[in-house]
Parts: sequence; structure tokens; C-alpha cells
Amino acid sequence: MRGSPLSRRAAQRFRQLAFLSVGSVKVKLLLGFCIFFTLILFFFRASTFIQWTQHHSFVDQSDLHRKGYTLLINTWKRNDLLKKSISHYAACLRLDSIHIVWSEPDPPSESLNRYLKRIVQKYSKNGRKIELKFDINKEDSLNNRFKEIKNLKTDVVFSIDDDVIFPCSSVELAYSVWQSAPDTMVGFVPRMHWLDHSRGNRDYFEYGGWWSVWWMGTYSMVLSKAAFFHKKYLAMYTNEFPASLREYVAHNRNCEDIAMSFLVANATGAPPIWVKGKIFEIGSTGISSLGGHSEKRTECINRFVAEFGKMPLVSTSMKVVDSRNTWFW
Ligand SMILES: *[C@@H]1O[C@H](CO)[C@@H](O)[C@H](O)[C@H]1NC(C)=O
Repeated sequence: MRGSPLSRRAAQRFRQLAFLSVGSVKVKLLLGFCIFFTLILFFFRASTFIQWTQHHSFVDQSDLHRKGYTLLINTWKRNDLLKKSISHYAACLRLDSIHIVWSEPDPPSESLNRYLKRIVQKYSKNGRKIELKFDINKEDSLNNRFKEIKNLKTDVVFSIDDDVIFPCSSVELAYSVWQSAPDTMVGFVPRMHWLDHSRGNRDYFEYGGWWSVWWMGTYSMVLSKAAFFHKKYLAMYTNEFPASLREYVAHNRNCEDIAMSFLVANATGAPPIWVKGKIFEIGSTGISSLGGHSEKRTECINRFVAEFGKMPLVSTSMKVVDSRNTWFW
């Protein structure tokens, strides 16, 4: 029997069949895994979205009588975004006051005023009263967003641009991180710098955007477009920060956020803290998507280093995540 052509062909056929069926089991398993992970991913996305739309919050109610934070929102000729942002953040439970940095030639319109007052009243319940104030500036300067605010009710501000929204749960996590480290800047948008060795002996620094941070897992700044910091830094920026750098920022219409990072790093000698938060961009793309942005930021860093006489920024790789969202991985 051995070696007969018939049995050999049968054996070959059998091997083929066996291979095929094993192959299809593997494919099915792979497909199954794909579907499973897609569902999981979808579930997590959906849950973060629901967190935003329903203003879902896990704040301990007994904590609410304590002082919260002031929303310091920077806006410019985008009333629709301002309304959207404030409608969202007013619902966040630890929010105490709202300060709108207004740098337009015309004062806020009566209808905008009425709209925002109504929003704030809607969420001022059960002994909670949200204060709403416009900080009107005559000149349009990027330094306006860090003007010292007298009689601020809270110790901390949450500095935010009008075109990004973070769920209340993310904001509250960042706020509690700040409470643990009140001298530190705590934010959602990390950036980095590094020494460029190709320039020979001279210390020359490069600015690294989001993809650099993503690639290296390291950062040394969090941007003031979404960050908590102590109100004393507003006073320091206004009264102690080198006037030549404030002029530089105003003239170049850029880098006020890097300036604030330098100021805090110089004061603390410590890195900022990056908190993971889901970002919803509600406006059109800002200046960071324009060409040449990174070169301008690099120039700013080197200009600031020259004035400080050293590089104050400190790098770190620490990232804060909400442990309730990470039970699985
Ligand atoms: C940096 O911090 C030191 C010590 O706190 C201070 O004397 C100095 O003025 C600060 N530098 C700048 C440029 O703000």
C-alpha cells in the first residue's frame, strides 16, 4: 500500500483540508478579537462622550462648600464659542467664578450679557452662586490673559481658551491634582523642549509640539490654553516678569503660554503636571496649525532663555490618569 499514487493523493488532500480548517479557525478567532476590541473601544468613546454631554460628575457633595476654582477664559470675537464654553463649564460643580478676558474695542453686547447671566443663574442653586465678570481691556494684547485680578475669590484659576472643552470629570480631576500641588501648573496640553546639539557649543533649544511629546513620552510645559495655576502667578506675570519679554509677547502675538511656563518653572524649580483629559475642539483650527508655528515657538524659547540667563524648564514623564477609567489595562 505504501507509496501507491492513490493513497499519496488522499494524504495530500487530507493535509490540505486540515490546513484549511485550522486556517479558518484562526481567521475566525482574529475576527472575533477585532469585533470584541472594536466594541470595547466604542464603549469607552461613548462613555466619554456621555460624560461631556450629561455633565457627569463624581464630586463628593460634602466637598462643595469649600472654595473651588475660577474659570479664566480668553476670548476674541467668537461669541458663539464663548456661549458654548460657558454653558458647559457652568455645570461643573467645583466652578466658583467666571472671568472673561475681553480685549475687543467694543464692550460685550447686551444680548451676550443677558445670555450668560441666564446660564449662570440656571446653575446657581442650593446655596451655590457663580460669579460672572468681564475683565475689559482697552488694548488687545496677549498679556491681558495673565493680568493680575484683585479680589479673586479663589486661590486658583483654570485658564482656558474659548475653543476647547473638557468634560467636567477631567476638569475636576485636574483641580484635585492641583490641590495636591498648589504651586505647580497642572494642565491638559503638554509641550516639550530639547537641546539642539547640532549648533555646536552654543546652547540652542528646540520647541517640540504634540507629536514630539507623543513620541518621546516627555514634556516640560503645559499650555495655558487649558491649565490650573495659582493666582499668585498672575500677579508675578504682571508685576515681576521682565517687561522686555512681556513686550516681546505682545509684539509677536505669540508665546504668552511659554512665558507663563518659564515663570512657574523658575519659581518652583519643578516640572508641571500633565493630566489626561478628553479634549473636544469646538472652534476652527487655531494658530498652532499654521505653518512656521514651531519655528516661532523655538525663537521664543531661546529669547526667554537669553533673558533668564538659564533654561528654567524641567522635563518629566509623569502623566496623571483617572484610575476609574483604567481598571482594564
Ligand atoms: C527667577 O527666580 C529667581 C529666584 O526666585 C528670581 O530672583 C528671578 O528674578 C527670576 N527670574 C526671572 C527672569 O523672573
